[in-house]
Amino acid sequence: MTEPIALLGGTGRSGPGLALRFSLAGVPVVIGSRERAKGAAAAAEVSARVGAAGGGAAVTGMDNAVAAAAAGTVLITIPYEGQAALLGELAATLAGKLVVSTVVPVQVDRTLGPSHIDVPEGSAAEQAAALLPGARVVAAFHSPSSAILGRSGRPVDSDVLVTGDDAEAKSRVIELAERLPGVRGIDAGPLRYARYSEQLTVLLLSINRIHKAHAGVRITEIPAR
Ligand SMILES: NC(=O)c1ccc[n+]([C@@H]2O[C@H](COP(=O)([O-])OP(=O)(O)OC[C@H]3O[C@@H](n4cnc5c(N)ncnc54)[C@H](OP(=O)(O)O)[C@@H]3O)[C@@H](O)[C@H]2O)c1
Repeated sequence: MTEPIALLGGTGRSGPGLALRFSLAGVPVVIGSRERAKGAAAAAEVSARVGAAGGGAAVTGMDNAVAAAAAGTVLITIPYEGQAALLGELAATLAGKLVVSTVVPVQVDRTLGPSHIDVPEGSAAEQAAALLPGARVVAAFHSPSSAILGRSGRPVDSDVLVTGDDAEAKSRVIELAERLPGVRGIDAGPLRYARYSEQLTVLLLSINRIHKAHAGVRITEIPAR
């Protein structure tokens, strides 16, 4: 049986799309929220979509702490602004787990467009690692857009750049990413390079704004594994 994954703050734009895709790929998902009822409602909505698409693994919803405890692999899918407080509360629960930061520190100005937020630790993922000394932190899933993830009828068609300092943890995240149709996971180096993957997404947001698109990333000329 495939182990479940948890999505902290999986109730927003990106969480439900990831939950839908992972469930359809046979990975059970626990959606976390600051409010248990909101997590349960999001899970019910995703479950209905999974059922309509032909069925998949279970999707359940709980509060973030229960969700974090329920899975060995935990994706952070909340805005950067909330990360320090939430991870501070969950540090003990997340010890020993594989924690995947999908967080992009970004601010959007209506006139100027998106720009990255300077993170003292270098990236949101490195901040997560500093807050979670007992966890294995990997950064991934910065580039696939929530709009594309939410459309289960089509492949995701994006590479997922994976950075981290633990080779086995990175391999597991690459395997997880490649459960999604049209996704190729790419080892992009140690966690200190997460900042470039995060900031590449800021550029994608600008491209999306100009072209009214949901652009992803494709790295060329990588030898097949
Ligand atoms: N959207 C995308 O296409 C996309 C793509 C790649 C990466 N990302 C990254 O993924 C993360 C989530 O993106 P999103 O668009 O899904 O964000 P979002 O919709 O704004 O928020 C996701 C969830 O985070 C929780 N949350 C919001 N503020 C919080 C706070 N201060 N403290 C704790 N939890 C909070 C909320 O859940 P509850 O109210 O249920 O707790 C919310 O539903 C972001 O870091 C983003 O940069 C997004």
